[in-house]
Amino acid sequence: MGIKKKSDSGNKFKGKVVLITGASSGIGRQTAIDFAKNCAKTIILVARSKPKLEEVEKSLKIHFTCETAVYPCDVSKKAEVANMGRELLEKFGFIDVLVNNAGFGIYGKVQNQSIEEIESVTFTNYLGMIYCTKLFLDSMLSRKSGHIVNVASVAASFGVAGLAAYCASKYAMLGFSESLLHELHGTGVGITVVSPIGVKTNFFSNVSFGDHVPNYTLFMLKPEKVSEAILAAANSPRLEIMVPFYMRAGVWLKHTIPYAINPLVGIIFRRQLKKSKETP
Ligand SMILES: NC(=O)c1ccc[n+]([C@@H]2O[C@H](COP(=O)([O-])OP(=O)(O)OC[C@H]3O[C@@H](n4cnc5c(N)ncnc54)[C@H](OP(=O)(O)O)[C@@H]3O)[C@@H](O)[C@H]2O)c1
Repeated sequence: MGIKKKSDSGNKFKGKVVLITGASSGIGRQTAIDFAKNCAKTIILVARSKPKLEEVEKSLKIHFTCETAVYPCDVSKKAEVANMGRELLEKFGFIDVLVNNAGFGIYGKVQNQSIEEIESVTFTNYLGMIYCTKLFLDSMLSRKSGHIVNVASVAASFGVAGLAAYCASKYAMLGFSESLLHELHGTGVGITVVSPIGVKTNFFSNVSFGDHVPNYTLFMLKPEKVSEAILAAANSPRLEIMVPFYMRAGVWLKHTIPYAINPLVGIIFRRQLKKSKETP
């Protein structure tokens, strides 16, 4: 993943304090690197794995001059997130950019998943985002400044077979963000959702995917492409940035001619599910 300091690095985030959840891997890791390239003053790296976060911190320290902080935290646990908020606000006073990126998916049919599995996806992807947002929203509002970037997915617009809990968590993230955007109107605080298609990360290493690599991997993005959109989102008045941008046409088609698009999406993803270890 690109860590070399690019000659075209900007200073769009000079002096900014940025917190990224899910910073130990994939999209979050790349986003940390790109905020550093763009002169962020402080980058706070959050995920569960301390050693992985420290590895990312080490890379940042080698290549960039930004201040870094590692904060191991399970965002699905309300009490852990509350402690994190208290300690970070005490230390840094405020956060300029909050990137809610931590998330994962469990692949399989609803009938084969336990309630606990479905809850864990919901608690991490949806409630984790709310716990973190609530932590820093007051201080953003009192400073009349700040931006929340929520990393959703095209799964926030298409419910697909095999990923019901995941899609629901991302739909919920988009709905919550849309409401909050309206509430934040005129406050100086922004919120933007970034919704990528498949990305080449450890996302598909979750044991539930088994050795089933989705055949849409051909079209998968590099984390750099999503990170670029996250940085753009952090200065954007828009509700949602889709990556690639032309996926917007797919969403428009789905809402305009659902009777044609939904059955097609159904066929494609049911076929994927049949090829997986989930075959009945
Ligand atoms: N890859 C894709 O195809 C794709 C497509 C669209 C959207 N997304 C979204 O992009 C985001 C990042 O995923 P990725 O593709 O970069 O996958 P990844 O490489 O697996 O990274 C996921 C990150 O989330 C962290 N995480 C997971 N559960 C957590 C928890 N309970 N508390 C704190 N951190 C947690 C992981 O760190 P620890 O394990 O150390 O906690 C890791 O840093 C996710 O929200 C995902 O839904 C991914």
